[in-house]
Amino acid sequence: MIITLDGPAGAGKSSAARALARRLGWCYMDTGAMYRAVTLMALERGVSLDDALALAVLAESLAIAFRDGGVFVGDRDVSIEIRTERITAATRPVADAPPVREVMKRMQQRIAKGLDVVTEGRDQGSVVFPHAELKVFLTASPEERALRRHREERARGAASSLDAVLSAQNRRDEGDRVRAVGAMKPADDAVLVETDGLTQDDVVERLVQLIEERRRPRSS
Ligand code: DC
Repeated sequence: MIITLDGPAGAGKSSAARALARRLGWCYMDTGAMYRAVTLMALERGVSLDDALALAVLAESLAIAFRDGGVFVGDRDVSIEIRTERITAATRPVADAPPVREVMKRMQQRIAKGLDVVTEGRDQGSVVFPHAELKVFLTASPEERALRRHREERARGAASSLDAVLSAQNRRDEGDRVRAVGAMKPADDAVLVETDGLTQDDVVERLVQLIEERRRPRSS
């Protein structure tokens, strides 16, 4: 069975997807981490971020895998390196490139084949897994998302203001929404879950409830 969790950054997707996968004993696929891994390798190997075809050739050549709770390129654990601000910024042109998205779509479908997976991203329900048994679009108000990110950044010692976090987030959301291919949008049959005021446990409970509803035979 495949469950897709899409939505903007800061809606609580990653923590909910990870916790849900753990609870179900399923695989967790973080597709943002895959775009970040391609970006890291492009920067290291000097592939131009403006050259969509070269980026796609690079992406195709990479053995990206999820193991031991981390993301690997071949034998190398890149989980930490892909989370820097430098990679976050540079991932944008990589994720915007249609040929890269095509390669990533096939890679994601290959990874999930035959498995029970909770997959998380922007286009998982709308493009990559149109036949997923359950599609969820997780949202929260921009203010709540910015507040969560601001708290995280402060905990890490970063000094940006809440206003700065909110404007950067608005720019990223807009970029995700207007992307020509793979734009962030709920699949037509996605369930919208608004996470304002909900704890991570509340969100996971809601997701489990949705899964149970899907599994329950319908009486007519
Ligand atoms: O969720 P994240 O911040 O790790 O995602 C990193 C980047 O990749 C971000 O610019 C959105 C993009 N992305 C995407 O375009 N499609 C996906 N399925 C997942 C992420």
